[in-house]
Amino acid sequence: MEFFISLYPFLLDWLDLIVRWIHIVVGIAWIGTSFYFNWLDSRLDRQIDNENFEGELWSVHSGGFYHINKLKGPPKEFPKELHWFKWEAYTTWISGFVLLIIIYYLNAEGMMIDKNINDLSPFTAIVISLIFLLGSWFIYDVLCKSILINNTIFFTITCLFLAILISYFLTRVFGSRAAYIHVGACLGTIMAANVFRVIIPSQKNMVDAALANKKPNLQKGIDAKIRSIHNNYITLPVLFIMISSHFPFTYGHKYNWLILAFISIIGATVRHYFNLRNKKEYKIWILPLATFGMICLMLYVSIPKIIQNEKIIISNNEISFYEINNIIKYRCGVCHTTKPTFEDFENPPLEIIFDTPEDILKNIDKIKAQVIDTDVMPPGNLTGITETEREKINLWIKLGAKINN
Ligand code: HEC
Repeated sequence: MEFFISLYPFLLDWLDLIVRWIHIVVGIAWIGTSFYFNWLDSRLDRQIDNENFEGELWSVHSGGFYHINKLKGPPKEFPKELHWFKWEAYTTWISGFVLLIIIYYLNAEGMMIDKNINDLSPFTAIVISLIFLLGSWFIYDVLCKSILINNTIFFTITCLFLAILISYFLTRVFGSRAAYIHVGACLGTIMAANVFRVIIPSQKNMVDAALANKKPNLQKGIDAKIRSIHNNYITLPVLFIMISSHFPFTYGHKYNWLILAFISIIGATVRHYFNLRNKKEYKIWILPLATFGMICLMLYVSIPKIIQNEKIIISNNEISFYEINNIIKYRCGVCHTTKPTFEDFENPPLEIIFDTPEDILKNIDKIKAQVIDTDVMPPGNLTGITETEREKINLWIKLGAKINN
């Protein structure tokens, strides 16, 4: 029994590895086919003179030529095997949800809750998480079925506003990293539910109608097309959120919800450029505009940090390494050491340790990114580092990070 209990954290790490691996692979397959079919449909040569075909496309890939035709209606004779492309979406959502459980729910205290933001119990945090996942799909679905859907601009603005509201709430409820991941999980749930509840049923209706020699339900087809376009635009923001954990200057910022909104809008705009381009509409100005937006965002996030750093009085040369070492030992060392003493940590997170002065120096840029430029570490400030201590580490780094005093 003892053995199994000590195996638990290792088991979780391995599960994390395996499920994350699966999640990325099936996610690539899903987004890949979705991008491919969008591209295919917009690039079809529709000028062909054939009463059975709406368009055709020639391509060459990996050792062969491909000739693809899009039929005007259903096939006269159904093929033995018809490919649907649905499991990519379902497995991406399922593996994503399992990851949410392994990484966040099973360690809610450390990964979801930030006591400075909200002192929730793990159970409450998990319930809130589930409510947001289901609730965002529910609200979006209701909007899609309302008359709002007839006015694209109005619909887009409403959804954007709601998404920003959800991000804002999440950043006020959870720790910043968990908040970001939850926005991504809500959007991912909407995408997968679009496939499960609308797109695949519409395809099924089309196939059933063709087999019964009846007309398919036109409205179902229109709805499916709209949901598929929505999924297409949501993709880039979701992918940003999935890699955002590498960029503490985004999720760790004071206005992290606004930064997320801004980056998402830029992502969707770039997607819009490619969608137009596929339709042979070349709105090239969109790309420099998106770049300009990214540069403005970078300046907005970075300039205050530079000014703040300049303000530190360089004349003060009093910071000793002894003091810094102590801060790091008490505030970080409980987790970032060869044998962590913090509950539930068997190994140092990401193998980052601060046992010797050299260990600290080696990670100095990362420490700055996690502790000075943002307050991501310690997670949820579990070890209660003070602002003065952060200032001291900052000053020590500014003075050249000397370890011989
Ligand atoms: C309660 C345990 C705990 C404490 C205390 C803690 N950390 Fe961490 N630290 C973590 C975990 C967990 C991760 C891994 C997060 C992840 O998966 O990206 C991490 C990751 C890091 C990283 C790597 C980030 C990256 O993505 O490259 C750095 C650097 C870091 N911590 C520095 C610190 C510093 C400096 C302190 C003290 C001020 C500190 N940590 C305190 C648990 C802790």
